[in-house]
Amino acid sequence: MESETSSLLQSLQTYFGLLFFSITISFSLFSLSLFLLRLKLWCNCDVCRCYLTSSWSSEFDNLCDWYTHLLRKSPSRTIHIHVLGNTVTANPDNVEYMLKTRFENYPKGKPFSVILGDLLGRGIFNVDGDSWKFQRKMASLELGSLSIRSYVFEIATTEIQCGLLPLLSSAAGKEDGVLDLQDVFRKFAFDNICRFSFGIDPGCLELSLTMSEFAVAFDQASRLSAERAMTSSPWIWKIKRLLNLGTEKKLKNAIKLINVLAEEVITQRRKMGFATRQDLLSRFMGTINDEKYLRDIVISFLVAGRDTVASALTSFFLVLAKHPEVSKAIRDESDRVMGPSQALPTYEQMREMPYLQAALHESMRLYPAVQFDSKFAQEDDILPDGTFVRRGTRVTYHPYAMGRMEQAWGPDSLEFKPERWLRNGVFYPESPFKYPVFQAGLRVCLGKEMALVSMKIVALSLLRRFDFETATTNLAPRFAPGLTATVAGGLPVRVRERTSPHHHC
Ligand code: HEM
Repeated sequence: MESETSSLLQSLQTYFGLLFFSITISFSLFSLSLFLLRLKLWCNCDVCRCYLTSSWSSEFDNLCDWYTHLLRKSPSRTIHIHVLGNTVTANPDNVEYMLKTRFENYPKGKPFSVILGDLLGRGIFNVDGDSWKFQRKMASLELGSLSIRSYVFEIATTEIQCGLLPLLSSAAGKEDGVLDLQDVFRKFAFDNICRFSFGIDPGCLELSLTMSEFAVAFDQASRLSAERAMTSSPWIWKIKRLLNLGTEKKLKNAIKLINVLAEEVITQRRKMGFATRQDLLSRFMGTINDEKYLRDIVISFLVAGRDTVASALTSFFLVLAKHPEVSKAIRDESDRVMGPSQALPTYEQMREMPYLQAALHESMRLYPAVQFDSKFAQEDDILPDGTFVRRGTRVTYHPYAMGRMEQAWGPDSLEFKPERWLRNGVFYPESPFKYPVFQAGLRVCLGKEMALVSMKIVALSLLRRFDFETATTNLAPRFAPGLTATVAGGLPVRVRERTSPHHHC
């Protein structure tokens, strides 16, 4: 009797065990299919099919051009790419709503910080909440101070006189010497941001690799991180990362190199002392002891300052190659303000050059350095144009497309016309929500003024001293994927000196 009861008990246990197991399996399969359904990996609509097969590339040079085409066609100026779970908008009212009115519902979000986490860590670009507030406050103290403009001006002037001008002069002296301006601008922007943010001349760093090897690592890491966001499911890159395969292996190696650079920057700053220094890094070092956190902050500022300024300058010179009349107008304006002087302009003189200011803004309208920027909706929401946004949806505003919308800029929206920013010779800024080239609202770029001052002084010193002739016949840029716009193949130019050189280093 006893043995019968125990065998009954055993079979009951097995039965319930099996039942429990099959319920668990069915439930998991059910959740997985719900998850896949929500991801819509196989959506068959025209836009998704075009995205998944890359067939847009037969008609458009760049993904951003195809998105622009779709957004221009959309009556609400908003589209949804189902396979990516991504709502993309070029509507200024939506942009204001996301970046200001309901800022707290549109953080960068976890999916974004996971994608960029390996490169940016907890740096300002990649965090929300308290960590963002802290870094923003610290950086604003530095970037918002009254003395900042003259400091930026001084650093950029030295960098131009001692680096940029001699480099271009030497290229100009060579028969048929071709130079890649994109490369030159990256080097300039990198040196400039190192001096400014870390108080360090990169030439003084004790590194086993050359700066151009680090630059390659930076470009690779930016490109490969951006490519993660383009895969239809995060599982694809996550599995590759786990197995250390292909692009993920390359990304890991690139980040290793970048870490060497960041660590050396921190070591040098420590050796030189930071208690009494006023640069950004010294400020952070005064309150943070966590080395990894400091590394993340260094990387974020390098990304912020190097790639954006270099990208904006490259597109500016690309646009000027097509519009010699604009180069002439900039030279004429500067001649009126500065006379024939060979010296670099002063800050006050640059303030008297609205045409230059307009030309730079116009160039960034058509070629913003950050072509699109994404947030993730925390809760279900409805955008001002009536678009429903489900919780967890990626919502992207697209400055590249926004600069090309007829509703915003008129029928000549695709033409390069600096005059559209001027009224009776005075520069009129646009609403940052219509022109979110530096973002807008609560997370607006902190380096805008600094970037504009540096870019103006570079543009003026190069245009007044040299003539440029592009060494490429194709002036419609193809962009390489990356966090900031990079022209594939660079901007090769032939440089000629206009007058005799006077470098005061
Ligand atoms: C032409 C040059 C520049 C452009 C077009 C530009 C554009 C932008 C954009 C679009 C963002 C928002 C990015 C995002 O949240 O994902 C941003 C943020 C930021 N930028 Fe810039 N930027 C430029 C130059 C600079 C420079 C030179 C610095 C530094 C010194 C800088 C510092 C920052 C910082 C710290 C943020 C983060 C702000 C925050 O999250 O609160 N930027 N910038």
